[in-house]
Amino acid sequence: MQTVTQISQVRTEVANARKSGQSIGFVPTMGALHAGHISLIETAARDCDFVVVSVFVNPTQFGANEDLEKYPRNLERDVEICAKAGANLVFAPAINEMYPEQNLTWVDVDKITTRLCGQYRPDHFRGVTTVCAKLFNIVTPDIAYFGQKDAQQSVVIKKMVADLNMPLKIEVCPTVREVSGLAISSRNQYLTEEEKQDAKLIYAALKKCSQLAKQGEQNCEILIKEMKIVLAASSKLMPQYIKIVNPKTLADLETLIDGAIAAIAAIAAKPGKTRLIDNIIISTPT
Ligand code: PAJ
Repeated sequence: MQTVTQISQVRTEVANARKSGQSIGFVPTMGALHAGHISLIETAARDCDFVVVSVFVNPTQFGANEDLEKYPRNLERDVEICAKAGANLVFAPAINEMYPEQNLTWVDVDKITTRLCGQYRPDHFRGVTTVCAKLFNIVTPDIAYFGQKDAQQSVVIKKMVADLNMPLKIEVCPTVREVSGLAISSRNQYLTEEEKQDAKLIYAALKKCSQLAKQGEQNCEILIKEMKIVLAASSKLMPQYIKIVNPKTLADLETLIDGAIAAIAAIAAKPGKTRLIDNIIISTPT
């Protein structure tokens, strides 16, 4: 496995792989790799002949008061993890390589980016879609892999790819969790033990919602109320949003309609200073 920092090197390696008839898989990441990332890389390695992983803490998706500076970085460890998981190439560019001058061109997906996390992180998705568009142009993958953990991000990326006729497929892989149910995230490193205990309630609430829906509860107001009750077990866990949304439009749902496509229950909450997000796909009884 090779690690490169220049766009031109990625283009050369991908061109060589293509020349020998290999399919290209791509896993974009911000590093601090964990079991969630590993599952994406392993899936890509299973499906594709040549797997590229990018490690880039993208400044344009962080708000002014967010954790860009303290975001965990450990490239040496990340490179080892990528090799073990079956990647063929790691692209770890410096900021200057990705943004050599002031960026004036943005990819902005309307509407669905203003909901859920978009309400609290106004320019976040514009940064994500712009950097992903750039990375897709650099890597030119056949398939790019994203995690269900960031449900809204996956929906937004799929919409960008569809609207702009980008020639690749987006695969969304299941959320990898700790034994406690807590969704694994690079930001879990910020949590104290006590905050980690409180954070478990997020998945407990989502599971409760899913169970009630499976038992036939269709009223989203009731389902949300039940999730609130679970979260309220800790007075220190501050919910930011608790929602049940249409999985494509991300618009709030009032009822789960029988036979309709599954809905997403999504929570953002702060067990302390750290903001955590999680979600679950829910469906009505079949
Ligand atoms: P990052 O947070 O590093 O996540 C990279 C990918 O890993 C995303 O697709 C994310 O959904 C997935 N992922 C994270 N935790 C996961 C888990 N517990 N289970 C399964 N998948 C998980 O998301 C980003 O980086 C950035 O926004 C990026 C797309 C790289 C653009 O900068």
